Amino acid sequence: MTLPVVHRDFTRSRLHEDELVANPFVQFQHWVDDAIAAKIVDWETITLATATTDGVPSARTLFLRGFDERGFVFYTNYESRKGTQLAKNARAALVIHWRELERQVCIEGRVEQTSAAESDEYFADRPLQSQLGAWASHQSQPLESAEALAQRVEEFRAKFAGGPVPRPPQWGGYRVIPNRIEFWQGAPGRLHDRFVYNRQPDDKWIWQRLNP
Ligand SMILES: Cc1cc2nc3c(=O)[nH]c(=O)nc-3n(C[C@H](O)[C@H](O)[C@H](O)COP(=O)(O)O)c2cc1C
Repeated sequence: MTLPVVHRDFTRSRLHEDELVANPFVQFQHWVDDAIAAKIVDWETITLATATTDGVPSARTLFLRGFDERGFVFYTNYESRKGTQLAKNARAALVIHWRELERQVCIEGRVEQTSAAESDEYFADRPLQSQLGAWASHQSQPLESAEALAQRVEEFRAKFAGGPVPRPPQWGGYRVIPNRIEFWQGAPGRLHDRFVYNRQPDDKWIWQRLNP
């Protein structure tokens, strides 16, 4: 099928050298503030790309659940397809796209599991149904039926009735510790503004403008 072509132009804003902050995490925070101020629905939606050890990539959508100078955090099942890949090849790329702002951020780096305490704290804050789902779902494994999963949820509901639901050992966070962060702002005529920050051996960041 040939898709209808829409020649959309990017006209909203520009990203100039003099507004760039030296610290890419602060730059990211500014853009998050803008995304929240713009009331973008699900602004924290990211694409996570992982790969097998022989370089076969896969990607999926996740929610970004935190970030600071240590890196970018998401939560999932350690035994999922992505978890299996990360266990053997602890590198990932994240992409976040804010259509309404004509912005994209691309992040690359190595990946570590968050501490058990950090995962526990996040898990404890989740709604009960999500907690039970984390116990019941063998994420990425074949499932005989939706009813079978619903049944497993009810079994865990009964098991944990009357007390807090502990975090399943196979469920927790990952932190992407970036060595490269790129900020992309759409510009008219496809002459977009792109700035990439690269981490230096002394942990300082150096940025440069890229061709669009
Ligand atoms: C908007 C959105 C948010 C999602 N957030 C998460 C998430 O935070 N954690 C998660 O494990 N899966 C999340 N998923 C499901 C994943 O895309 C994916 O199906 C799942 O993690 C299994 O991926 P895998 O088989 O590649 O490991 C989300 C899906 C969508 C569409």
